[in-house]
Amino acid sequence: MSRTLDLGCGANRDPSATDGMDVSPARGVTIQWDAGKFPWPIADGAYDRVVSHQLLEHLPPRYEGDRELMFVLFDEVHRILRPGGVFEFDTPHARSRQAHELSHRRYFNVESFRPFWDASVMRHAYARRKQWQLLSCRVERVWPFLWHVRRSFPRVGALYERIPGGPPGNIHVRLRRRSERACPRFAALGTDGITEG
Ligand SMILES: C[S@@+](CC[C@H](N)C(=O)[O-])C[C@H]1O[C@@H](n2cnc3c(N)ncnc32)[C@H](O)[C@@H]1O
Repeated sequence: MSRTLDLGCGANRDPSATDGMDVSPARGVTIQWDAGKFPWPIADGAYDRVVSHQLLEHLPPRYEGDRELMFVLFDEVHRILRPGGVFEFDTPHARSRQAHELSHRRYFNVESFRPFWDASVMRHAYARRKQWQLLSCRVERVWPFLWHVRRSFPRVGALYERIPGGPPGNIHVRLRRRSERACPRFAALGTDGITEG
């Protein structure tokens, strides 16, 4: 059976998930744990897929003093995924209406995540490890007057998101866990698949 973990599931666990992790207890939470504390109580390669909806922006920027927490967290997701497993997450774009809710501790745009799949953008030790393959990255477009439509009727809202030119909503990223440390094809992948206006 395929195993999927929903990170930061709250009471709204992804229907496809077989497990849910959250710092607070709720229906659907099978692992109550702070995602900012490492290592997570999960075995290596335990999951085929990890999903995370609207969690990353709630986490602090740093771990153990000055380490970028996203690098530590992505390493941990890499560890608990089987080779070839997929990590899918969404988080508000820094320029989106929802980004600046008071419970949010960080603000992202596509560049924030690019080091995970593009070794050429910055001379960073993480990027050079080439642990992830980009499957897709897209930024929703949400017209302000459609905000309430989108919230009340997600399916209709999804159609409106396709209208080009609106301000950004959520960033959606899908990454595949590479099994090897280095991949000669990596450079050729470049930034294909990114759609940010
Ligand atoms: C905006 S809610 C999203 C819930 C659900 N994923 C959804 O899409 O409806 C953020 C969730 O992240 C959880 N959370 C916040 N900080 C966390 C942490 N450090 N570790 C684990 N979960 C955390 C909260 O308890 C909450 O359930």
